[in-house]
Amino acid sequence: MKIEILAADKTFCKEAVDLFWQTYLEEVYSMPFLPKDEEMKHLIDDSINQLLENGSGVMAFSDQKLVGYMLGWSVNQLFGPVMGVFSPMIGHTAKKEHRRMIYTKMLEYSMKTWVDQGYLSFAVSVLAHDKGLIDEFFVNGYGMRCIDAIRKSERIHVTINGVTIKKASQVDLADIALIHGKHHEYYKYSPIFMPRLAENALADITHWWSQPEHHLWISYQGDQAMGYIRIQPEGETVVSLHSKVMNVTGAYVEQNARSMGVASLLLDEVQRWLMEHGYHLCGVDYESINPAAYRFWNRYFTPYTVSVTRRIDERIIQ
Ligand SMILES: CC(C)(COP(=O)(O)OP(=O)(O)OC[C@H]1O[C@@H](n2cnc3c(N)ncnc32)[C@H](O)[C@@H]1OP(=O)(O)O)[C@@H](O)C(=O)NCCC(=O)NCCS
Repeated sequence: MKIEILAADKTFCKEAVDLFWQTYLEEVYSMPFLPKDEEMKHLIDDSINQLLENGSGVMAFSDQKLVGYMLGWSVNQLFGPVMGVFSPMIGHTAKKEHRRMIYTKMLEYSMKTWVDQGYLSFAVSVLAHDKGLIDEFFVNGYGMRCIDAIRKSERIHVTINGVTIKKASQVDLADIALIHGKHHEYYKYSPIFMPRLAENALADITHWWSQPEHHLWISYQGDQAMGYIRIQPEGETVVSLHSKVMNVTGAYVEQNARSMGVASLLLDEVQRWLMEHGYHLCGVDYESINPAAYRFWNRYFTPYTVSVTRRIDERIIQ
């Protein structure tokens, strides 16, 4: 099969959307509860259009037919003080037949163009059940960093003596200011090592809470807050934007209260609320490099994307 790689051309938008939709249906085959209705099609269509309009990348052709594309958003600083490119879940695909070979070529060409322009950090979100493609990125020097996962909204049924859960109103947020601050700092330490800027925890969580459809629950032992969980309509992928999906965007339990089921209890309360409010699906995203999160969320959710990253040695452009 002869493959020609060219700069991305937005006149092939419809072909790109059709190609991605076929790939998305492969993921749906493994996870039948992923949204696959007209709304999902429109969300995917819009996202690919925006990326073709404002991003950059390449397209692969065989016999003048589109057989793949690799597009990304440029990011000023991606996992460090270097420019990077992020290719989201809808940002790349290739025909199932010869997929790895098409990716090998698209990666070689797109990365040449990006590195020539000074981009040195790359992140790509890959559909989680495409093990062959994940392996293709692995052999190209990429490692896993983040996961988007989803579950049907269903009760977990946990009880812990002496622990109560409250849906927070604004006056309750002061109870978790300290805990929210610890959560923010938590990511600085081994093995995660994500630099964090200092922030005012109460102001931050109050600002977050005051936005539309942002909800938060607090767990208490007596009158002592010991953890929280929060949800909002937008997560990190196009699936998270679907109207039937709500997304967990943070959870933290005090160190001395862990492994007792507190986060499970909080998650159960969220499930109850989602079922009552007609949200059939619950999404979450987390760092795979955060062992506590990896263990906890993987217990209750199924990953549908994994994000892989590669950082190029900056001396190559010096
Ligand atoms: C991730 C996190 C919120 C989990 O909180 P937690 O309250 O310890 O979670 P749970 O207790 O519900 O579940 C954790 C473990 O306790 C066990 N457990 C659950 N219910 C239990 C019960 N009733 N009795 C005893 N153990 C129980 C679970 O089996 C689980 O064990 P496993 O890890 O072996 O699978 C917590 O580790 C944390 O705050 N981490 C730091 C912040 C973070 O990473 N947040 C996620 C960001 S996306």
